[in-house]
Amino acid sequence: MDKMWAGRFSKALDKEADDFNSSIHFDCKMYKQDIHGSIAHAEMLAECNIISMDDRNAIIKGLMEIERDIDSGSLPFDFDAEDIHMFIEAELTKRIGDVGKRLHTARSRNDQVALDIRLYMRDEANEIISLIRKLLCAILNQAEKNKETILPGYTHLQRAQPIMFAHHLCAYAMMFMRDIGRIEDAVKRMNLSPLGSCALAGTTYETDRKSVARKLGFDGITLNSIDGVSDRDFCVELMSAFALTMTHLSRFSEEVILWSSWEFKFVELDDSYTTGSSIMPQKKNPDMAELVRGKTGRVYGDLVAMLTILKGLPLAYNKDMQEDKEAIFDSSETVKKCLSIFAPMIETMTVRKDKMYAAAGEGFINATDLADYLVKKGQPFRSAYKTVGQIVGKCIAEKKTLETLSLPEYKEFDNLFEEDLYAEIDLRNCAEKRISAGGTSVASIEVQLDYIKDFLYGSK
Ligand code: ARG
Repeated sequence: MDKMWAGRFSKALDKEADDFNSSIHFDCKMYKQDIHGSIAHAEMLAECNIISMDDRNAIIKGLMEIERDIDSGSLPFDFDAEDIHMFIEAELTKRIGDVGKRLHTARSRNDQVALDIRLYMRDEANEIISLIRKLLCAILNQAEKNKETILPGYTHLQRAQPIMFAHHLCAYAMMFMRDIGRIEDAVKRMNLSPLGSCALAGTTYETDRKSVARKLGFDGITLNSIDGVSDRDFCVELMSAFALTMTHLSRFSEEVILWSSWEFKFVELDDSYTTGSSIMPQKKNPDMAELVRGKTGRVYGDLVAMLTILKGLPLAYNKDMQEDKEAIFDSSETVKKCLSIFAPMIETMTVRKDKMYAAAGEGFINATDLADYLVKKGQPFRSAYKTVGQIVGKCIAEKKTLETLSLPEYKEFDNLFEEDLYAEIDLRNCAEKRISAGGTSVASIEVQLDYIKDFLYGSK
């Protein structure tokens, strides 16, 4: 295929170099954005009397037909083309003749590609936000059903204090709500049109960049043409936000994997989100959660690739930047896939309240409450802490629990112990007493659930 820029060359590009240079096999994803950007550009060129109304109409009609034909599959991409921008422009000229050659007035591929990625990623970001919202709904539903489900809370993966399962789930909801905030924030910053920056220095034509920006739903225009074509901060920001979303999904996955092991058995994943083994007939494996945990590495890799591509690039456009797309597409597609599988997996998992409660009964997780009992009767916390440590030691040695130790035995450690200590260390009571703001009591959980519901369905 003859290159559009072939004029100043005396030899064709080497075939392998041509393939190496081409990006159409991945930037073809942006055909809609490219066409919509070109339509807005053609409209503006006519508004500014740079092209005639007849030319504008022919260009727009041609572009709309190209979009329709790509949508329907009747126009396949030509993978010999250099990129999606060249492909569409060449196709337009093939269809409408020389008028098509007027479209690229007051524009360069440098601002065109910068525009297309912003448009494409704005849609991707919005889709990811709605997928996170679906996950939040799944978390909310499980939390509503488990407001009073007691399980051990852990630190160092050692049983620590009794908590409600809803409280644990709400912790994830907080992370995912912040993730949405971060993505929205990045979108806000990137929602400026770079089109009209041209190759790097702007143009001699009297264009109206703001008109193009308005047509494409941007909040405004980028103010420096060099920055307009060479900024990929928005990719880094979005990929960082996606990487963090994956971090949260990965931590959640790790817990789901642990919880569904025979050692825990806190949850049972629905058959539709688990797999079997080719050799061990008894196996039910949490592959989806493991894959989400594994794919987190890819999304981190995409972020690091993007940062590394930018590091050391002189201004303005450099071909290195063509590498941005595979990284950012992979990042957003991976996050989307993970979120869409994770939400129904959480929604459909069965919570084994009995197993959670049984685990809470072992491990002396009410020891802090026993110490607080003595403190409330006047002991300094450090002395109470020491006494309870000794009591736990005795229980371990004699295979007893804090609940089964008799009052006379307690009194050997401290005479302040009375019959009411047993109510004080009752697991449900221990969780229910944690009424401090943000604690695990049902009242605090209700506040959290209201906050999540307001975030999801409120008048925001
Ligand atoms: N395919 C190129 C990219 O993705 C488009 C911009 C090309 N610009 C240029 N000056 N060669 O970055």
